[in-house]
Amino acid sequence: MEFIEQLKQKARGNKKRIVLPEGLEERTLRAADIILEEDFADVILIGNPAKVQEEARRLELKSISKACLVDPENHDKMEAYANMMVEIRKKKGLTKEDALSLIKNPLFLAVMMIKAGDADGEVAGADNATGDVLRPAFQYVKTAPGISVVSGAFIMILKDKKFGDDGMMVFADCAVHPNPTAEELAEIAVATGRTTQAIAGIEPRIAMLSFSTKGSAKHEMVDKVVNATRIAKEMAPDLKIEGEIQSDAAIIPEIGQKKAPGSDIAGYANVLVFPTLETGNIAYKLVQRMAGAEAIGPVLQGMAAPINDLSRGCSVSDIVNLVAITANQAGGL
Ligand code: ACO
Repeated sequence: MEFIEQLKQKARGNKKRIVLPEGLEERTLRAADIILEEDFADVILIGNPAKVQEEARRLELKSISKACLVDPENHDKMEAYANMMVEIRKKKGLTKEDALSLIKNPLFLAVMMIKAGDADGEVAGADNATGDVLRPAFQYVKTAPGISVVSGAFIMILKDKKFGDDGMMVFADCAVHPNPTAEELAEIAVATGRTTQAIAGIEPRIAMLSFSTKGSAKHEMVDKVVNATRIAKEMAPDLKIEGEIQSDAAIIPEIGQKKAPGSDIAGYANVLVFPTLETGNIAYKLVQRMAGAEAIGPVLQGMAAPINDLSRGCSVSDIVNLVAITANQAGGL
């Protein structure tokens, strides 16, 4: 069965409430209709209910009536959520007046619904930039215990099945943290290993990418990856991690054996951890466009609750797929 179909089936057995704050956005509405039709998550749409219903009629969507509609300007938990916001951000000087204004913003409302236990996860970003989706989540939902940095992984489904596990690979960080330290890069590697196990459903063989393989080049940027590899191995002795390693040595067995002889990961990596966001973001988009790979994500990792961000160029099926992933994260990651 196709990867996403398996996730939908798992989600159907343990239905979660996923909040979509961009409730008036056309692709989001179409996606909500499909999710409700396929019945693998409960959907909460934020937006003026009369306008959402009018738009659903115009688009001839039949299942939106099953969604829970929340009006950001007028709902009975406004005051309670604003009080929680003030409590969480009191050290940052947030006033009640500020909070009452922020809570009308659907992106803040969505994270406060999660924080209050009124929703299990969020997908947004069809209509908002990454930073605008992530900042409320960082400020109010925060990172999971023991994690200091949130990052974003893509599950890459490659046409050429010789790569990864039958064409499936995981790339990170491609979405969030611009220039991680060695410690942060190690956390990203471990988090990506866990996402690979829990969402992609495969055993990770992690390559810590660099422009050097096993000391072939000397530079402070190489040192960062060497240190990150060491720290990641200490953090998660159960994970298979190789580094520092060049991308060809990571994915082509003959090159891997030549540049990193004896390694059981070199040439066979199914997880690529990039040294910076710049490299990860550029790489995943090139592989997607030039190799025709399906890029599913970003799956945000390290947040205390599942909140996932879309690209503004996303399709309806990208939104449906990310809701399936989010529902699975909410179900037990
Ligand atoms: N993990 C956890 N917390 C974080 C992270 C992180 N990676 N980054 C920032 N924070 C926290 C900060 O500690 C801070 O918390 P506080 O307010 O409680 O002190 C809060 O978030 C805001 O921090 P800022 O430094 O003000 O955050 P800023 O807005 O400058 O940056 C952001 C965060 C928006 C994620 C930034 O790192 C960014 O723009 N990243 C790039 C995102 C992007 O454009 N990605 C590419 C497109 S996505 C795609 O193509 C799929």
